Amino acid sequence: MDYALRCIECDREFENDELYTCPSCNGLLEVKIRLDSVEVDFKFDGINLRVWKYSNLLPVKSKPISLNEGGTPLFKTTLGDRCKVYVKHEGMNPSGSFKDRGMTIGVTKAIELGKKAVACASTGNTSASMAMYAAKAGLKAYVLLPAGKVALGKVAQALMHGAKVIGIKSNFDVALEFVRKISEEENFYLLNSVNPFRLEGQKTIAFEIVDELGYVPDRVILPVGNAGNISAIFKGFKELKELGLIDSIPKMTGVQAEGASPIYKAFKERKLDIIPEQSPETVATAIRIGNPVNAKKALNAIYKSNGLSVSVSDNEIIEAQKFLASKEGIGVEPASAASIAGLRKLLEMGEIGSDETVVCITTGHLLKDPETVISVCGEPIEVEADLEKIKEVL
Ligand code: F0G
Repeated sequence: MDYALRCIECDREFENDELYTCPSCNGLLEVKIRLDSVEVDFKFDGINLRVWKYSNLLPVKSKPISLNEGGTPLFKTTLGDRCKVYVKHEGMNPSGSFKDRGMTIGVTKAIELGKKAVACASTGNTSASMAMYAAKAGLKAYVLLPAGKVALGKVAQALMHGAKVIGIKSNFDVALEFVRKISEEENFYLLNSVNPFRLEGQKTIAFEIVDELGYVPDRVILPVGNAGNISAIFKGFKELKELGLIDSIPKMTGVQAEGASPIYKAFKERKLDIIPEQSPETVATAIRIGNPVNAKKALNAIYKSNGLSVSVSDNEIIEAQKFLASKEGIGVEPASAASIAGLRKLLEMGEIGSDETVVCITTGHLLKDPETVISVCGEPIEVEADLEKIKEVL
């Protein structure tokens, strides 16, 4: 396959895979696959779904470092009033989040480039996933986290998979600035979503949706933090359209938490740039981000697809998390529930047509954040080991 890295700002193209941003204008890069060089050998037959099913459209040459990522379930739900709502549960990936789709490509690329170590800043899931794939690949892994603001399950994963985990007394945005500098100085391969190859893995969410549904939904709703995933999924649909495999692109709909919503605010004013927020805050710690690196790509995805952005309160997020878990049996972490909270809000606002088919992406598993669950559901009731006493509480 023939591809180059293209700057989304100045349109220059580069053949060097080791770049993260444009050497001439510092703009974001994306992988431009020369689609006329691609021979599509996969079928949208709804079977054998996995990230690597679509390898003809994935810009890596070496043997995949894989843990069987992708192939996540697409549940039909009763969440829409009259419209059809599906939930694609990305929490069912090997490390419990969608990040695995990006990491299988990113870590394979790290090996291809001869790197010895990978690094990221993270609100948790990226670090868990990166640590897991680095372990599989035999690479060292370095992680910078906002201290005290990462859900316990995610820290546990990063530690157990052998990453060196450092908590800094600041937020994610600052951690990312540091890790970008450190990676450059120490020759670590940076695996945040500013890495254009990571997003190539995440675009397979779009491929799987079409593969499983057998058609293109009208809308895709997902939580937005550093804004990589919405950009990646849009790119996936765009490539399928350019290849003539589909003839429409869903309205990309990004949901942010009220306390961390620079993209929503830019969208509201129809702007192309965000104003970074200095002190983002939300119960959905995965998307507690004030200066999303991929903001330009995300806003482009929203505008070009005729989509929109909405913000939801922490209360709405927790209510949606409980609702999804107790009514549909789908257990997700708070950030993921933002997509359901966004759906409910947009239904209320009358923004979603009754004939629409909507796919909500739930990005991470319930078990990622047990502490929030206990704080909103309470501890289990304790009683004596006595039949009558147990029956009393039943
Ligand atoms: N949902 C979950 C569960 C996440 O972990 C993240 C991002 C997002 C949504 C937002 O995705 O950044 O592509 O817009 N988590 C990153 C991390 C930042 O470090 O784990 P995005």
